[in-house]
Amino acid sequence: MAEEPLFSADLLSPTVAEALPQGYVLRALRKSDYSTGFLDCLRVLTTVGEIAQSEFEERYDWMAKQDGSYFVIVIEDTSRGKVVGTGALIVERKFVHRLGRVGHIEDIAVDKDQQGKKLGLRLIQALDYIAEKVGCYKAILDCSEANEGFYVKCGFRRAGLEMAHYY
Ligand code: ACO
Repeated sequence: MAEEPLFSADLLSPTVAEALPQGYVLRALRKSDYSTGFLDCLRVLTTVGEIAQSEFEERYDWMAKQDGSYFVIVIEDTSRGKVVGTGALIVERKFVHRLGRVGHIEDIAVDKDQQGKKLGLRLIQALDYIAEKVGCYKAILDCSEANEGFYVKCGFRRAGLEMAHYY
């Protein structure tokens, strides 16, 4: 039996899928992505640490239970069975804006040797598609100054200021 993905394939943009280089596929995260380079891809972004397979699966199961809140996507190079790009959309349900939904774009990463092939752009387009389909009125993200130009090319604009408390 085929492995159950984190969310329905109906939420994957056909336009983005078609625009990928030959042999690359857009899909939802799967539990088996523990072994397909997904975590290594995230290491391009930040510290991941050592995560045991059981810990990965526990977090995956928790996300899957959150009913339409966690959408983690990957781009896989099927010729190598390797995840080369990933991104996440977390959907926040609010009271304001008449029970509005806000999409939070998080953890965008493209393998170093795959950067510059528009995979980052495709990830953002794919997350935008999901956000719109699940009823978000906006999607927001935090990024460094160094990445501002990338997000502007993806259609985002500077809005507000991020503040943080680290614990
Ligand atoms: N500054 C300005 N423009 C950029 C940058 C940048 N840092 N990176 C890419 N671009 C431009 C490209 O030149 C391209 O422009 P073009 O359409 O005129 O040719 C356009 O943006 C699209 O670029 P892609 O090829 O899609 O970018 P790539 O696949 O390399 O992905 C990414 C960009 C995701 C930032 C990648 O470099 C990466 O993984 N970096 C390390 C991790 C990281 O910083 N992730 C983002 C963290 S913020 C967050 O997660 C919300």
